[in-house]
Amino acid sequence: MEQQNELVLKVRNLRLYFNTHSGPVQAVDGVDFDLRKNEATVIIGESGCGKSSLAKAILRLLPRNAGTYDGEVWLHDKNIMKLDDESFRKEIRWKRISMVPQAAMNALNPVLKIGTQVAEPAMVHMNMNEEEATKAAVRMLEHVGVPVDFLHRYSFELSGGMRQRSALAMALVTLPDVVILDEPTSALDVLTQASIMNLMKRMKKELETSFILITHDIATSSELADNVAVMYAGQVVEVSDARRFFTKPLHPYSHALMASVPRLRETIEPEFITGQPPSLLNPPTGCRFKDRCPKRFEKCDEEPPTVLVDGDRKVKCWLYV
Ligand SMILES: Nc1ncnc2c1ncn2[C@@H]1O[C@H](COP(=O)(O)OP(=O)(O)O)[C@@H](O)[C@H]1O
Ligand code: SF4
Ligand SMILES: [Mg+2]
Repeated sequence: MEQQNELVLKVRNLRLYFNTHSGPVQAVDGVDFDLRKNEATVIIGESGCGKSSLAKAILRLLPRNAGTYDGEVWLHDKNIMKLDDESFRKEIRWKRISMVPQAAMNALNPVLKIGTQVAEPAMVHMNMNEEEATKAAVRMLEHVGVPVDFLHRYSFELSGGMRQRSALAMALVTLPDVVILDEPTSALDVLTQASIMNLMKRMKKELETSFILITHDIATSSELADNVAVMYAGQVVEVSDARRFFTKPLHPYSHALMASVPRLRETIEPEFITGQPPSLLNPPTGCRFKDRCPKRFEKCDEEPPTVLVDGDRKVKCWLYV
């Protein structure tokens, strides 16, 4: 087997449900995946499958109506789910694991200059004084390709790409072990998307940081991904290294995702996945993908186990049992 990089984050059986008047929404329902040093694990799946909830569960950013919340999140050799809230806030969030939330570039503070915003996490979470934090902010802004004189500008004076780079600098200024990027390019035009993906590739090489990239866009993710976890209806249905995933996806849902990508050099029309993902209030029993699966058979009315295929790939589907 190939030599693998050191394991940084290990998520096991993570669950986060939301209480509603109609019952619990099973947004994250028993999720497992790994992240290694200087690598990116891409979490991919359609809108509403629980990706942002997974990010919140890892960072313990729980809404008021959070219900069931359990499982294991190992950061190196520590299960951080066992920490009390105060220790989690002081030791983990932002210092060791940070996030660029979905639509972060539109959530920058309009009344604070960019430099002040990027310096703030360093002051709050790394106990730096203003001068040290400003230096760290300048270093990080340069690193992500924001010109230094932008330090004194306000977010509304910046282009979308520059705002997203600034949001990335805020997440990286504490030099965390892990950065979670929630749909970092979805609000940007294609050229800016490509430049942000290139930037993240460079960051992955240059910094001691690992990335969790959350996206519904399988095409842009392929550039950065070392590993892929496919999410469907609150669950992970396939985990694989990127090389084998992109050449030969295993799960029927992964096939459908791949077939939906337009290909510039080929004449094959992209195929859209028919039907809707199920409600997470009352997900179907058995395989959650069964109502949309072209390969469905009798067995699929029972919950499929997660099985190992090709050595270390994981797939939750009866076809592989
Ligand atoms: N606070 C909440 N209360 C109830 N339901 C929620 C809450 N937050 C998200 N959801 C629901 O959980 C599911 C997963 O949402 P989300 O994690 O945002 O998915 P994604 O990021 O993949 O689009 C959706 O059905 C969404 O409506
Ligand atoms: S378990 Fe059955 S329904 Fe589910 S993905 Fe596999 S073949 Fe399709
Ligand atoms: Mg989301």
